[in-house]
Amino acid sequence: MTSSTAFDILRESSPVVSVGILTVDLLSLGSELALLERSGVQVVHVDVMDGSFCPMMTVGPPLIKALKTLLLKDVHLMIGEPLNKVAGYVAAGADIITIHPEACSHIHQVLQPMRMKKNVNNPERSLVRGVGLSPGTPLEVLEHLLDELELILIFLAANPGWGGQKFIASARGRVEKAERMIADSGRKKLLGVDGGITRDNIADVAALGVDLIVTGSAVFDSKAAEANARFMLEEARKGDRGQESEVRSQNNST
Ligand code: DX5
Ligand code: ZN
Repeated sequence: MTSSTAFDILRESSPVVSVGILTVDLLSLGSELALLERSGVQVVHVDVMDGSFCPMMTVGPPLIKALKTLLLKDVHLMIGEPLNKVAGYVAAGADIITIHPEACSHIHQVLQPMRMKKNVNNPERSLVRGVGLSPGTPLEVLEHLLDELELILIFLAANPGWGGQKFIASARGRVEKAERMIADSGRKKLLGVDGGITRDNIADVAALGVDLIVTGSAVFDSKAAEANARFMLEEARKGDRGQESEVRSQNNST
């Protein structure tokens, strides 16, 4: 792997599996991370919830800083008004930070200064700025943000807040629409999906041509995280090889 930015690493390795630790046994987090590293996955996904935008409260910058791992840290901020909070997550070692328009009064104002932030893990790597969309949010919200983001993260399950929810059927069309928007823009972006990914559907989702696939409970809901993560990675690659979509090909040629 020759390129050094997190964006390039993710694009070159697409589809990348990002393992969500929402349902991990937190007391075993260190050893579970070591299992993920051994499985070959490259990214760990941390769901940050504030008890307001999402009913649950989870973790903050100290936990992200405490993750001693070579995996890229994919931080999904499901918190209200993140403007003055993002810096804490950058300082804690985030490689990817995703925010939600539904939770920001002025999302452009949050994204723009993130462009200048240094990645504390490696200044060469820079940050990937993501925008996450809940199922009820129209994709048009992205139209004037495309210059200020590198990753679009489509939520595939019912709504942000919990792991283990069911994939909703309308998600497929939303992914395809996001791919068309990216292709039409002529810009290179990463497209990610989060929520409701299982052993049974990951290959189909990968076949849609997405770059980053978040999966949590499918890896941690039994005591075989390494084998589960490896399985998800293999299935994702199988899906990508098997049925690469036309939209994806257009997208890559821009
Ligand atoms: C939900 C989170 C997801 C979730 C994924 O609000 O954003 O990242 O943890 O978990 P699974 O894969 O169990 O749906
Ligand atoms: Zn998430």
